Amino acid sequence: MPTRTQAIVLAAGRSSRFNTSAIKLSFTLCGQEMIRYPLNVLKALKIKTLVVVGYQQEIIRGILDKYSYPVECVEQTIQKGTGHALLCTRPYWTEDTLLILNGDVPLITEAHIAELMKRHRSTAATISFIASYNADPSVIGYGRVIDNGEQVSIVEQREFTGDPARECRLNAGVYLIERAFLEDTLPSLETHPSGEIFITDLIHKASEQKKKIEIVDIPFDHVRGINTLKELWVAERLVRSDIINSWMAQGVRFIAPESVVIDYDVTLSPDTVIGYGVQLLKGTQVGRKVTIDAFSVLDGAIIGDSAIIHSHSVISHASVHGMAQVGPFARVHQHSTLHAESVVGNFVEVSKTTLGHKSKAKHLTYLGQAQIGKEANIGAGTITCNYNGVSKHATIIEDGAFIGSNSALLAPVTIGKEAIVAAGSTITESVPAQALAIARQRQTTKLHYAPLIKGKHAQAPDKLKLKLATQGS
Ligand code: UD1
Ligand code: CA
Repeated sequence: MPTRTQAIVLAAGRSSRFNTSAIKLSFTLCGQEMIRYPLNVLKALKIKTLVVVGYQQEIIRGILDKYSYPVECVEQTIQKGTGHALLCTRPYWTEDTLLILNGDVPLITEAHIAELMKRHRSTAATISFIASYNADPSVIGYGRVIDNGEQVSIVEQREFTGDPARECRLNAGVYLIERAFLEDTLPSLETHPSGEIFITDLIHKASEQKKKIEIVDIPFDHVRGINTLKELWVAERLVRSDIINSWMAQGVRFIAPESVVIDYDVTLSPDTVIGYGVQLLKGTQVGRKVTIDAFSVLDGAIIGDSAIIHSHSVISHASVHGMAQVGPFARVHQHSTLHAESVVGNFVEVSKTTLGHKSKAKHLTYLGQAQIGKEANIGAGTITCNYNGVSKHATIIEDGAFIGSNSALLAPVTIGKEAIVAAGSTITESVPAQALAIARQRQTTKLHYAPLIKGKHAQAPDKLKLKLATQGS
Protein backbone atom coordinates (compact mmCIF):
# COMPACT_ATOMS: atom_id res chain seq x y z
CA MET A 1 0.00 0.00 0.00
CA PRO A 2 1.65 3.31 -1.01
CA THR A 3 1.66 5.47 2.06
CA ARG A 4 2.99 8.65 3.53
CA THR A 5 2.75 7.07 6.91
CA GLN A 6 5.62 6.26 9.19
CA ALA A 7 5.28 3.73 12.01
CA ILE A 8 6.68 4.01 15.53
CA VAL A 9 6.71 0.96 17.78
CA LEU A 10 7.13 1.67 21.50
CA ALA A 11 9.43 -0.95 22.99
CA ALA A 12 11.46 0.84 25.64
CA GLY A 13 9.35 0.11 28.73
CA ARG A 14 10.56 -1.73 31.81
CA SER A 15 8.09 -4.68 31.80
CA SER A 16 7.78 -4.31 35.56
CA ARG A 17 4.52 -6.30 35.78
CA PHE A 18 6.21 -9.33 34.21
CA ASN A 19 8.51 -9.74 37.24
CA THR A 20 11.06 -11.54 35.08
CA SER A 21 14.70 -10.70 34.50
CA ALA A 22 14.32 -10.31 30.72
CA ILE A 23 12.21 -7.65 28.98
CA LYS A 24 8.74 -8.99 28.10
CA LEU A 25 8.99 -8.14 24.40
CA SER A 26 11.73 -10.77 24.08
CA PHE A 27 9.37 -13.52 25.31
CA THR A 28 8.06 -15.78 22.61
CA LEU A 29 4.43 -16.28 21.70
CA CYS A 30 4.09 -19.50 19.67
CA GLY A 31 7.82 -19.45 18.98
CA GLN A 32 8.09 -15.84 17.86
CA GLU A 33 9.31 -12.97 20.04
CA MET A 34 6.49 -10.61 21.00
CA ILE A 35 8.20 -7.58 19.42
CA ARG A 36 8.05 -9.30 16.04
CA TYR A 37 4.23 -9.35 15.97
CA PRO A 38 3.68 -5.62 15.31
CA LEU A 39 6.68 -5.65 12.97
CA ASN A 40 5.14 -8.47 10.89
CA VAL A 41 2.07 -6.30 10.36
CA LEU A 42 4.13 -3.24 9.42
CA LYS A 43 6.27 -5.32 7.09
CA ALA A 44 3.16 -6.69 5.35
CA LEU A 45 1.86 -3.13 4.93
CA LYS A 46 5.33 -1.92 3.85
CA ILE A 47 5.37 0.93 6.35
CA LYS A 48 8.72 2.45 7.23
CA THR A 49 9.30 1.82 10.93
CA LEU A 50 11.12 3.27 13.93
CA VAL A 51 11.38 1.26 17.14
CA VAL A 52 11.85 3.08 20.46
CA VAL A 53 14.25 1.07 22.61
CA GLY A 54 15.58 1.71 26.10
CA TYR A 55 15.30 -0.83 28.91
CA GLN A 56 17.42 -3.87 27.94
CA GLN A 57 17.75 -2.42 24.47
CA GLU A 58 20.58 -4.81 23.62
CA ILE A 59 18.09 -7.68 23.73
CA ILE A 60 15.60 -5.90 21.49
CA ARG A 61 18.31 -4.72 19.09
CA GLY A 62 19.59 -8.33 18.91
CA ILE A 63 16.14 -9.55 17.88
CA LEU A 64 15.72 -6.72 15.35
CA ASP A 65 19.14 -7.43 13.82
CA LYS A 66 17.97 -10.92 12.90
CA TYR A 67 14.59 -9.72 11.66
CA SER A 68 13.86 -9.75 7.94
CA TYR A 69 12.43 -6.21 7.85
CA PRO A 70 14.95 -3.43 8.44
CA VAL A 71 13.88 -0.94 11.09
CA GLU A 72 15.63 1.96 12.74
CA CYS A 73 16.02 2.23 16.50
CA VAL A 74 15.64 5.40 18.57
CA GLU A 75 16.75 5.41 22.18
CA GLN A 76 14.64 6.54 25.13
CA THR A 77 17.27 6.77 27.84
CA ILE A 78 14.90 7.17 30.78
CA GLN A 79 11.50 5.50 30.75
CA LYS A 80 9.14 8.40 31.33
CA GLY A 81 6.02 6.99 29.73
CA THR A 82 4.51 6.38 26.31
CA GLY A 83 4.17 10.11 25.51
CA HIS A 84 7.82 10.65 26.33
CA ALA A 85 8.81 7.63 24.22
CA LEU A 86 7.05 9.19 21.25
CA LEU A 87 8.69 12.57 21.94
CA CYS A 88 12.12 10.91 21.68
CA THR A 89 11.41 10.06 18.04
CA ARG A 90 10.59 13.63 17.05
CA PRO A 91 13.88 14.35 15.20
CA TYR A 92 13.25 11.31 13.00
CA TRP A 93 9.76 12.09 11.77
CA THR A 94 9.75 12.23 7.98
CA GLU A 95 6.13 11.58 6.97
CA ASP A 96 2.87 13.49 7.44
CA THR A 97 1.05 10.81 9.38
CA LEU A 98 2.43 8.70 12.22
CA LEU A 99 1.18 5.25 13.10
CA ILE A 100 2.10 4.51 16.72
CA LEU A 101 1.84 1.02 18.18
CA ASN A 102 2.54 -0.21 21.67
CA GLY A 103 5.03 -3.06 21.32
CA ASP A 104 2.99 -5.32 23.62
CA VAL A 105 -0.22 -5.63 21.59
CA PRO A 106 0.66 -8.66 19.47
CA LEU A 107 -2.77 -9.75 18.23
CA ILE A 108 -3.55 -6.68 16.13
CA THR A 109 -3.71 -7.70 12.48
CA GLU A 110 -2.85 -6.14 9.16
CA ALA A 111 -6.58 -5.84 8.40
CA HIS A 112 -7.17 -3.79 11.58
CA ILE A 113 -4.39 -1.36 10.72
CA ALA A 114 -5.59 -1.11 7.13
CA GLU A 115 -9.10 -0.30 8.41
CA LEU A 116 -7.69 2.33 10.79
CA MET A 117 -5.80 3.98 7.92
CA LYS A 118 -8.84 3.89 5.65
CA ARG A 119 -11.11 5.47 8.26
CA HIS A 120 -8.50 8.09 9.13
CA ARG A 121 -8.23 9.15 5.50
CA SER A 122 -11.90 9.00 4.67
CA THR A 123 -12.88 11.11 7.69
CA ALA A 124 -9.87 13.43 7.44
CA ALA A 125 -9.26 12.79 11.15
CA THR A 126 -6.45 14.30 13.17
CA ILE A 127 -6.24 11.32 15.51
CA SER A 128 -7.67 7.87 14.96
CA PHE A 129 -7.19 4.99 17.31
CA ILE A 130 -8.29 1.42 17.93
CA ALA A 131 -10.52 0.49 20.87
CA SER A 132 -12.73 -2.35 22.04
CA TYR A 133 -15.75 -2.72 24.27
CA ASN A 134 -15.32 -5.05 27.23
CA ALA A 135 -17.65 -4.74 30.20
CA ASP A 136 -15.87 -7.37 32.29
CA PRO A 137 -14.69 -5.43 35.38
CA SER A 138 -11.88 -7.93 35.97
CA VAL A 139 -10.17 -6.75 32.79
CA ILE A 140 -7.65 -4.24 34.08
CA GLY A 141 -4.66 -2.26 32.88
CA TYR A 142 -6.34 -0.44 30.01
CA GLY A 143 -7.08 3.21 29.50
CA ARG A 144 -10.83 3.81 29.14
CA VAL A 145 -12.33 6.00 26.44
CA ILE A 146 -14.57 8.54 28.17
CA ASP A 147 -16.97 10.53 26.01
CA ASN A 148 -19.02 13.03 28.01
CA GLY A 149 -20.89 14.21 24.93
CA GLU A 150 -18.70 17.27 24.54
CA GLN A 151 -15.20 15.93 24.88
CA VAL A 152 -13.42 12.64 24.45
CA SER A 153 -10.51 11.57 26.61
CA ILE A 154 -8.67 8.44 27.70
CA VAL A 155 -8.44 7.88 31.43
CA GLU A 156 -5.81 5.44 32.62
CA GLN A 157 -6.70 2.58 34.95
CA ARG A 158 -4.99 4.07 37.99
CA GLU A 159 -6.82 7.40 37.55
CA PHE A 160 -10.21 5.91 36.66
CA THR A 161 -12.92 6.24 39.31
CA GLY A 162 -16.05 5.52 37.25
CA ASP A 163 -18.09 2.36 36.71
CA PRO A 164 -15.99 -0.09 34.65
CA ALA A 165 -19.08 -1.93 33.42
CA ARG A 166 -20.56 1.28 31.98
CA GLU A 167 -17.41 2.99 30.75
CA CYS A 168 -16.05 -0.08 29.06
CA ARG A 169 -14.52 1.13 25.80
CA LEU A 170 -10.85 0.20 26.16
CA ASN A 171 -7.90 1.81 24.40
CA ALA A 172 -5.81 -0.64 22.38
CA GLY A 173 -2.65 1.48 22.26
CA VAL A 174 -2.61 1.86 18.44
CA TYR A 175 -2.93 5.39 17.05
CA LEU A 176 -2.75 7.19 13.73
CA ILE A 177 -1.91 10.85 14.27
CA GLU A 178 -1.27 13.80 11.97
CA ARG A 179 2.29 15.00 12.38
CA ALA A 180 1.36 18.71 12.31
CA PHE A 181 -0.88 18.22 15.36
CA LEU A 182 1.82 16.24 17.15
CA GLU A 183 4.47 18.89 16.44
CA ASP A 184 2.26 21.45 18.18
CA THR A 185 0.77 19.40 20.97
CA LEU A 186 3.15 16.64 22.06
CA PRO A 187 5.70 18.96 23.74
CA SER A 188 2.93 20.53 25.81
CA LEU A 189 1.70 17.31 27.46
CA GLU A 190 1.88 17.41 31.23
CA THR A 191 3.81 15.01 33.41
CA HIS A 192 1.58 12.88 35.66
CA PRO A 193 2.33 12.35 39.38
CA SER A 194 4.03 9.04 38.45
CA GLY A 195 6.62 11.07 36.51
CA GLU A 196 5.28 9.83 33.17
CA ILE A 197 3.92 11.54 30.09
CA PHE A 198 0.95 9.67 28.63
CA ILE A 199 0.46 9.45 24.88
CA THR A 200 -3.23 9.03 25.64
CA ASP A 201 -3.49 12.67 26.81
CA LEU A 202 -3.26 13.64 23.14
CA ILE A 203 -6.88 12.54 22.73
CA HIS A 204 -8.16 15.08 25.22
CA LYS A 205 -5.95 17.77 23.66
CA ALA A 206 -7.35 17.02 20.22
CA SER A 207 -10.85 17.08 21.62
CA GLU A 208 -10.24 20.48 23.26
CA GLN A 209 -8.98 21.79 19.94
CA LYS A 210 -12.12 20.42 18.22
CA LYS A 211 -10.04 18.17 16.00
CA LYS A 212 -11.66 15.19 14.33
CA ILE A 213 -11.15 12.01 16.37
CA GLU A 214 -12.00 8.67 14.84
CA ILE A 215 -12.28 5.44 16.85
CA VAL A 216 -12.18 2.01 15.21
CA ASP A 217 -13.69 -0.68 17.44
CA ILE A 218 -12.47 -4.24 17.01
CA PRO A 219 -12.99 -7.49 18.98
CA PHE A 220 -11.32 -7.48 22.38
CA ASP A 221 -9.15 -10.54 21.72
CA HIS A 222 -7.20 -8.49 19.18
CA VAL A 223 -6.50 -5.57 21.51
CA ARG A 224 -5.19 -7.71 24.36
CA GLY A 225 -2.13 -6.02 25.80
CA ILE A 226 0.50 -8.21 27.44
CA ASN A 227 1.52 -6.80 30.81
CA THR A 228 1.76 -10.02 32.82
CA LEU A 229 2.81 -13.62 32.24
CA LYS A 230 -0.82 -14.62 32.66
CA GLU A 231 -1.82 -12.30 29.81
CA LEU A 232 0.96 -13.81 27.69
CA TRP A 233 -0.45 -17.27 28.40
CA VAL A 234 -3.97 -16.19 27.39
CA ALA A 235 -2.74 -14.58 24.17
CA GLU A 236 -0.60 -17.60 23.36
CA ARG A 237 -3.58 -19.91 23.78
CA LEU A 238 -5.54 -17.79 21.29
CA VAL A 239 -2.76 -17.81 18.70
CA ARG A 240 -2.14 -21.52 19.25
CA SER A 241 -5.77 -22.45 18.84
CA ASP A 242 -5.88 -20.47 15.55
CA ILE A 243 -2.85 -22.43 14.34
CA ILE A 244 -4.38 -25.76 15.39
CA ASN A 245 -7.76 -24.88 13.82
CA SER A 246 -6.06 -24.09 10.56
CA TRP A 247 -4.21 -27.46 10.52
CA MET A 248 -7.38 -29.33 11.45
CA ALA A 249 -9.10 -27.72 8.48
CA GLN A 250 -6.28 -29.15 6.35
CA GLY A 251 -6.83 -32.72 7.53
CA VAL A 252 -4.56 -33.04 10.56
CA ARG A 253 -6.11 -34.98 13.46
CA PHE A 254 -5.35 -33.73 16.97
CA ILE A 255 -6.30 -36.26 19.65
CA ALA A 256 -6.30 -33.63 22.42
CA PRO A 257 -5.77 -30.19 20.84
CA GLU A 258 -5.96 -28.40 24.19
CA SER A 259 -2.78 -30.19 25.29
CA VAL A 260 -0.67 -29.55 22.20
CA VAL A 261 2.01 -26.86 21.96
CA ILE A 262 2.64 -25.68 18.41
CA ASP A 263 4.70 -22.84 16.97
CA TYR A 264 3.72 -20.49 14.16
CA ASP A 265 6.24 -21.81 11.62
CA VAL A 266 5.51 -25.53 11.95
CA THR A 267 4.10 -27.27 8.88
CA LEU A 268 1.92 -30.38 9.00
CA SER A 269 0.25 -32.49 6.32
CA PRO A 270 -3.09 -34.27 5.89
CA ASP A 271 -3.83 -37.59 7.59
CA THR A 272 -1.23 -37.00 10.27
CA VAL A 273 -2.26 -37.73 13.87
CA ILE A 274 -0.91 -35.66 16.75
CA GLY A 275 -1.25 -37.28 20.19
CA TYR A 276 -1.80 -35.92 23.67
CA GLY A 277 0.70 -33.39 25.01
CA VAL A 278 2.86 -33.28 21.87
CA GLN A 279 5.09 -30.23 21.36
CA LEU A 280 5.75 -29.18 17.77
CA LEU A 281 8.36 -26.45 17.93
CA LYS A 282 10.08 -24.00 15.62
CA GLY A 283 10.78 -25.11 12.09
CA THR A 284 9.31 -28.61 12.44
CA GLN A 285 7.92 -30.07 9.20
CA VAL A 286 5.79 -33.19 9.29
CA GLY A 287 4.71 -35.19 6.23
CA ARG A 288 1.50 -37.12 5.49
CA LYS A 289 0.12 -40.04 7.48
CA VAL A 290 2.59 -39.54 10.28
CA THR A 291 1.73 -40.58 13.83
CA ILE A 292 3.24 -38.60 16.68
CA ASP A 293 2.33 -40.18 19.98
CA ALA A 294 1.82 -38.66 23.40
CA PHE A 295 4.39 -36.32 24.97
CA SER A 296 6.85 -36.33 22.10
CA VAL A 297 8.78 -33.12 21.49
CA LEU A 298 9.80 -32.14 17.97
CA ASP A 299 12.03 -29.11 17.61
CA GLY A 300 13.27 -28.26 14.14
CA ALA A 301 12.47 -31.86 13.14
CA ILE A 302 11.76 -33.00 9.58
CA ILE A 303 9.51 -36.07 9.52
CA GLY A 304 8.78 -37.99 6.31
CA ASP A 305 5.47 -39.56 5.23
CA SER A 306 4.09 -42.47 7.25
CA ALA A 307 6.78 -42.28 9.92
CA ILE A 308 5.76 -43.26 13.47
CA ILE A 309 7.07 -41.35 16.43
CA HIS A 310 6.13 -43.31 19.52
CA SER A 311 5.45 -41.59 22.80
CA HIS A 312 7.99 -39.60 24.84
CA SER A 313 10.47 -39.17 22.01
CA VAL A 314 12.54 -36.02 21.56
CA ILE A 315 13.64 -35.15 18.04
CA SER A 316 15.52 -31.93 17.64
CA HIS A 317 17.22 -30.60 14.54
CA ALA A 318 17.14 -34.01 12.92
CA SER A 319 15.42 -35.77 10.00
CA VAL A 320 13.35 -38.91 10.13
CA HIS A 321 12.52 -40.22 6.66
CA GLY A 322 9.38 -41.96 5.44
CA MET A 323 8.12 -45.05 7.29
CA ALA A 324 10.88 -44.87 9.87
CA GLN A 325 9.99 -45.48 13.53
CA VAL A 326 11.29 -43.74 16.61
CA GLY A 327 10.77 -44.45 20.31
CA PRO A 328 9.12 -44.72 22.72
CA PHE A 329 11.61 -42.78 24.87
CA ALA A 330 14.16 -42.08 22.14
CA ARG A 331 16.27 -38.99 21.53
CA VAL A 332 17.38 -38.10 18.02
CA HIS A 333 19.31 -34.86 17.72
CA GLN A 334 22.30 -32.87 16.40
CA HIS A 335 21.50 -33.13 12.68
CA SER A 336 21.06 -36.87 12.67
CA THR A 337 19.23 -38.55 9.79
CA LEU A 338 17.21 -41.73 10.06
CA HIS A 339 16.63 -43.06 6.56
CA ALA A 340 13.44 -44.66 5.32
CA GLU A 341 12.09 -47.64 7.26
CA SER A 342 14.85 -47.50 9.83
CA VAL A 343 13.95 -48.15 13.47
CA VAL A 344 15.24 -46.43 16.59
CA GLY A 345 13.66 -47.99 19.65
CA ASN A 346 13.32 -47.31 23.34
CA PHE A 347 16.08 -45.60 25.30
CA VAL A 348 18.22 -45.00 22.23
CA GLU A 349 20.13 -41.75 21.71
CA VAL A 350 21.18 -40.80 18.19
CA SER A 351 23.47 -37.81 17.83
CA LYS A 352 25.30 -36.54 14.70
CA THR A 353 24.53 -39.90 13.15
CA THR A 354 23.10 -41.28 9.93
CA LEU A 355 21.16 -44.53 10.13
CA GLY A 356 20.66 -46.16 6.72
CA HIS A 357 17.59 -47.61 5.04
CA LYS A 358 15.97 -50.39 7.12
CA SER A 359 18.73 -50.34 9.74
CA LYS A 360 17.65 -50.93 13.31
CA ALA A 361 18.80 -49.90 16.77
CA LYS A 362 15.91 -51.03 18.86
CA HIS A 363 17.01 -50.87 22.49
CA LEU A 364 19.22 -48.99 24.97
CA THR A 365 21.90 -47.68 22.64
CA TYR A 366 24.08 -44.61 22.07
CA LEU A 367 24.96 -43.81 18.48
CA GLY A 368 27.12 -40.69 18.29
CA GLN A 369 29.05 -39.46 15.23
CA ALA A 370 28.25 -42.70 13.42
CA GLN A 371 27.65 -43.39 9.74
CA ILE A 372 25.55 -46.52 9.56
CA GLY A 373 24.72 -48.12 6.22
CA LYS A 374 21.66 -50.03 5.06
CA GLU A 375 20.06 -52.98 6.83
CA ALA A 376 22.51 -52.96 9.72
CA ASN A 377 21.39 -54.34 13.07
CA ILE A 378 22.62 -52.61 16.18
CA GLY A 379 22.07 -54.81 19.24
CA ALA A 380 20.74 -53.69 22.58
CA GLY A 381 23.23 -51.81 24.69
CA THR A 382 25.62 -50.90 21.87
CA ILE A 383 27.69 -47.81 22.52
CA THR A 384 29.73 -45.91 19.96
CA CYS A 385 32.52 -44.50 22.16
CA ASN A 386 33.14 -41.35 20.15
CA TYR A 387 34.92 -39.33 22.85
CA ASN A 388 38.16 -40.41 24.47
CA GLY A 389 38.29 -37.53 26.90
CA VAL A 390 40.40 -35.41 24.56
CA SER A 391 38.98 -35.63 21.06
CA LYS A 392 35.96 -37.00 19.21
CA HIS A 393 35.97 -39.57 16.44
CA ALA A 394 33.59 -41.21 14.00
CA THR A 395 32.34 -44.78 13.77
CA ILE A 396 31.46 -46.34 10.43
CA ILE A 397 29.15 -49.34 10.30
CA GLU A 398 28.69 -50.59 6.75
CA ASP A 399 25.66 -52.16 5.06
CA GLY A 400 24.30 -55.32 6.60
CA ALA A 401 26.66 -55.35 9.60
CA PHE A 402 25.43 -56.97 12.82
CA ILE A 403 26.54 -55.56 16.16
CA GLY A 404 25.86 -57.96 19.03
CA SER A 405 24.35 -56.67 22.22
CA ASN A 406 26.35 -54.75 24.77
CA SER A 407 29.23 -53.97 22.47
CA ALA A 408 31.44 -50.92 22.80
CA LEU A 409 32.86 -49.59 19.52
CA LEU A 410 35.88 -47.39 20.27
CA ALA A 411 36.07 -44.73 17.57
CA PRO A 412 37.66 -44.21 15.16
CA VAL A 413 36.64 -47.63 13.96
CA THR A 414 34.96 -49.21 10.93
CA ILE A 415 32.79 -52.30 10.96
CA GLY A 416 32.84 -53.64 7.40
CA LYS A 417 29.96 -54.75 5.23
CA GLU A 418 28.05 -57.73 6.61
CA ALA A 419 30.60 -58.19 9.42
CA ILE A 420 29.48 -59.52 12.80
CA VAL A 421 30.56 -58.21 16.18
CA ALA A 422 29.93 -60.75 18.91
CA ALA A 423 27.86 -59.65 21.86
CA GLY A 424 29.75 -58.07 24.71
CA SER A 425 32.75 -57.10 22.59
CA THR A 426 34.92 -54.05 23.07
CA ILE A 427 36.05 -53.27 19.54
CA THR A 428 39.24 -51.26 19.28
CA GLU A 429 40.31 -52.24 15.76
CA SER A 430 38.34 -52.07 12.51
CA VAL A 431 36.58 -55.26 11.44
CA PRO A 432 36.85 -56.24 7.74
CA ALA A 433 33.78 -56.99 5.66
CA GLN A 434 32.11 -60.31 6.46
CA ALA A 435 34.50 -61.01 9.39
CA LEU A 436 33.41 -62.06 12.86
CA ALA A 437 35.02 -60.09 15.68
CA ILE A 438 34.92 -61.36 19.26
CA ALA A 439 36.58 -59.17 21.83
CA ARG A 440 35.68 -60.35 25.30
CA GLN A 441 37.01 -62.57 28.06
CA ARG A 442 36.35 -66.27 27.83
CA GLN A 443 33.81 -67.57 30.28
CA THR A 444 34.87 -69.69 33.26
CA THR A 445 32.27 -72.08 34.64
CA LYS A 446 32.86 -73.58 38.08
CA LEU A 447 30.67 -76.58 38.62
CA HIS A 448 28.78 -76.90 41.94
CA TYR A 449 30.21 -73.58 43.05
CA ALA A 450 27.00 -71.64 43.66
CA PRO A 451 25.94 -73.42 46.89
CA LEU A 452 29.44 -72.95 48.17
CA ILE A 453 29.09 -69.16 47.81
CA LYS A 454 25.49 -68.99 49.00
CA GLY A 455 25.70 -71.40 51.91
CA LYS A 456 29.19 -71.56 53.25
CA HIS A 457 30.57 -68.15 52.53
CA ALA A 458 29.31 -66.68 55.78
CA GLN A 459 30.46 -69.56 57.98
CA ALA A 460 33.77 -70.49 56.47
CA PRO A 461 35.37 -67.59 54.66
CA ASP A 462 38.89 -68.95 55.01
CA LYS A 463 37.93 -72.27 53.48
CA LEU A 464 36.22 -70.50 50.58
CA LYS A 465 39.27 -68.35 49.93
CA LEU A 466 41.41 -71.47 49.87
CA LYS A 467 39.10 -73.14 47.33
CA LEU A 468 39.17 -70.06 45.10
CA ALA A 469 42.96 -70.02 45.20
CA THR A 470 43.30 -73.73 44.35
CA GLN A 471 40.68 -73.72 41.53
CA GLY A 472 42.01 -70.55 39.88
CA SER A 473 39.93 -68.54 37.41
C1 UD1 B 1 -1.08 1.71 27.58
C2 UD1 B 1 -2.02 2.90 27.46
C3 UD1 B 1 -3.44 2.44 27.80
C4 UD1 B 1 -3.85 1.34 26.87
C5 UD1 B 1 -2.86 0.18 26.96
C6 UD1 B 1 -3.18 -0.82 25.88
C7 UD1 B 1 -0.68 4.84 28.08
C8 UD1 B 1 -0.39 5.87 29.10
N1 UD1 B 1 -1.59 3.94 28.38
O1 UD1 B 1 -1.05 1.33 28.95
O2 UD1 B 1 -4.33 3.53 27.63
O3 UD1 B 1 -5.14 0.87 27.19
O4 UD1 B 1 -1.52 0.66 26.73
O5 UD1 B 1 -2.39 -1.96 25.98
O6 UD1 B 1 -0.11 4.88 27.01
N2 UD1 B 1 6.91 2.15 26.67
C9 UD1 B 1 8.03 2.83 26.26
N3 UD1 B 1 8.56 3.76 27.11
C10 UD1 B 1 8.01 4.07 28.30
C11 UD1 B 1 6.87 3.36 28.71
C12 UD1 B 1 6.33 2.42 27.86
O7 UD1 B 1 8.56 2.60 25.18
O8 UD1 B 1 8.55 4.92 29.00
C13 UD1 B 1 6.36 1.11 25.78
C14 UD1 B 1 6.34 -0.27 26.43
O9 UD1 B 1 7.52 -1.00 26.14
C15 UD1 B 1 5.10 -0.91 25.81
C16 UD1 B 1 4.22 0.27 25.43
O10 UD1 B 1 5.03 1.42 25.48
O11 UD1 B 1 5.42 -1.66 24.65
C17 UD1 B 1 3.03 0.43 26.38
O12 UD1 B 1 3.51 0.60 27.69
P1 UD1 B 1 2.78 -0.02 28.94
O13 UD1 B 1 3.51 0.39 30.14
O14 UD1 B 1 2.57 -1.46 28.72
O15 UD1 B 1 1.36 0.74 28.87
P2 UD1 B 1 0.01 0.28 29.54
O16 UD1 B 1 0.08 0.51 30.99
O17 UD1 B 1 -0.34 -1.07 29.07
CA1 CA C 1 0.76 -2.64 28.04
